[in-house]
Amino acid sequence: MKLFIDTADIAQIREAWSWGIIDGVTTNPTHIANSGKDFDSVLEEIFSIVDGPISVESVSTNAEGIIEEGRRIAAFHKNAVVKVPVMIEGLKAVKVLAKEGIKTNVTLCFSPLQAFLAAKCGATYISPFIHRLDLVGHDGGELIRQMRQIYDNYGFQTQILAASIRSPKQVLDSLLAGADVATMPFDMLRALYQHPLTEDGLQMFLDDWKRVPPSRLFTSKAGA
Ligand code: E4P
Repeated sequence: MKLFIDTADIAQIREAWSWGIIDGVTTNPTHIANSGKDFDSVLEEIFSIVDGPISVESVSTNAEGIIEEGRRIAAFHKNAVVKVPVMIEGLKAVKVLAKEGIKTNVTLCFSPLQAFLAAKCGATYISPFIHRLDLVGHDGGELIRQMRQIYDNYGFQTQILAASIRSPKQVLDSLLAGADVATMPFDMLRALYQHPLTEDGLQMFLDDWKRVPPSRLFTSKAGA
């Protein structure tokens, strides 16, 4: 499963990219607004850091406007993916953009039927919003399982991009349900590394190491 970072915070993107686990970025209008920077310059910075798919959201609500924005986003950089809301006008635009070879990420997906329609229109990615579903008493993990089954039954190539993730359990559910990608905030990516037994165990080893006599191997320069 690929991992994307879901933010437009440049410092966080730079740091997570340095860890070597990030494959791409997803942004949305909220992230752009929270970055405190203008749209063009924040995009330039993100594309200069990450070499992988970067989703940029369209903001028009009719197909014509979405297609025009999608073409501009695609022309901006070869790694650009056009994010489009799952609605009639959005999917009309996705179909046109797909025919032009422009990659799309259909967003705000909350049902397997929406995922089916997005795949029919040639979406590159479909983004089910896991945590927002869990918050209203539904089961985001179950949604991914249903989507996986539908796509496998009919041979759709659209990639399932688990979005709106707020817990390591939701990442695990995404992995077990066969999501192709998961996107999440910086803090969630960092949380994936953590386990209290790892921290306790490391502390114990470091404390015990203090009782070991000085070592030439660790104190002399490598190769010296
Ligand atoms: C995904 O592409 C979205 O940007 C994101 O996951 C939005 O969901 P959230 O605001 O619930 O995190």
